[in-house]
Amino acid sequence: MKHGLPFWAILLALIFSALALALIGAVSPALAQAGDGQAARYGAAIYAEFCQACHGPHGEAIAEGPAFQAIEFDAATARDVIAQGRDSAPGDGVAMPAYAQAAGGPLSEARLDQVIAYMATWETGDVPPLPAPNLHPKVEQVPDYFGDVQRGAALYATSCYGCHGAEGRGRVPPNFPGFAYNRETFRQVVSAGAGGPTMPGFGPEAGGPLSASDLEDLETYVASWSIEPPKAAPSPEGWSTFLVILGVLAVLAVGGYYGGGFSLSSAFGSENDSVVDDSGEQP
Ligand code: HEC
Ligand code: HEC
Repeated sequence: MKHGLPFWAILLALIFSALALALIGAVSPALAQAGDGQAARYGAAIYAEFCQACHGPHGEAIAEGPAFQAIEFDAATARDVIAQGRDSAPGDGVAMPAYAQAAGGPLSEARLDQVIAYMATWETGDVPPLPAPNLHPKVEQVPDYFGDVQRGAALYATSCYGCHGAEGRGRVPPNFPGFAYNRETFRQVVSAGAGGPTMPGFGPEAGGPLSASDLEDLETYVASWSIEPPKAAPSPEGWSTFLVILGVLAVLAVGGYYGGGFSLSSAFGSENDSVVDDSGEQP
C-alpha cells in the first residue's frame, strides 16, 4: 500500500478552495445589488419555515383539522393576523400564534413585509419556489428506531422547525419553546397536540396532515439528536479525501447549503441555521 499524499489530490483540493473563494467574491456583490423583487423570495423562505406546517405550501388546506386550513389572502388584514395572532374560536383548541417581535414572536417588521410580499404572489401568479428543507441528520440509522431518519428531518423542517428550532432548542418562548424528547409521550403529544392552543395535533386522529408512518420517521429523526455521530480516524490515505471534502464543504458553505432550516439562509447574509435571527429571547 502506498503512503503519502498523491499530487492529484492536493491539486484537486487547491482547485476546490480557489473555486470557493472565487464564488464568495462573485456572490456577495450580486446579493447586495438585489432589488425589491427579492422581497417575495425572502418571504418564501420565511413562509416555508413558519407557515407551511399549518397552511400548506401555497395557503391551501392540507388536512381536516381546524389548524390546517386554507388562507383567504387579503393583504390588508393578513399582516395584522400574522403579527398579532388570532383565535376567533377560543374553544376549539387551535389558534394562530402571533409572529411579530413586538408580540413576542420571531419576525421583525421587515420579515413580516417579506412574507406578505410572498403571499401576494399567489394572486399575481409569479410565485417563487419554496426553498427545500436543509436539515441533515447526523446518522443514517438510529438503533431501536425503524423510521427513515432523512425523511423525518424533512418533516421536522416543514412541520416543527418554525416553532421549535434546531434540535428542539426553541426560538422565542412562550409560543416557540424548546422541548426535550421523551419516548413515552412524544408520539401521543405530536399526534394529539400539546394541550395549549398553539400546538395542534398533527396526527390523523386529530385531523392533522401526518400519517402514522410520517410520525415514525419524525420520531426517528428526533431520537437521532442524542446520538454521537461516528468519528472517522484520519489515516495517511484519509488526508487526501479530507482535503477534497474540505474543498467541497467550502463550496457548499458558499452556496448557503451547509447549515440548517431552509437553504435561503445565506440570502440574508447570516451564518444562522435559519432564515431569521433567533439567537436569543426578544425583549
Ligand atoms: C399552528 C398552525 C398555524 C401556523 C404555524 C400558522 N397559522 Fe395562520 N392560522 C392558523 C389558524 C388556526 C388560523 C385561524 C385563526 C382563527 O381565525 O381563529 C389562521 C389564520 C391565518 C390567516 C387569516 C386567514 C383568513 O383566511 O382570514 C392568515 C393570513 C394566516 N393564518 C397566515 C399565516 C402565516 C403567514 C403564517 C406563518 C408566519 C401562519 N399563518 C402560521 C394556524 C396557523
Ligand atoms: C405553532 C408552533 C408549534 C409548532 C408548529 C409545533 N409545536 Fe410543539 N409545541 C408548541 C408549544 C407552544 C408547546 C408547549 C405546549 C403548549 O403550549 O401547547 C409545544 C410542545 C411540544 C412538545 C412538548 C410537549 C410536552 O408536554 O412535553 C413536543 C414534544 C413538541 N411540541 C413537538 C413538536 C413536533 C414534533 C412538532 C412538529 C410536528 C411541533 N411540536 C410543532 C408549539 C409548536
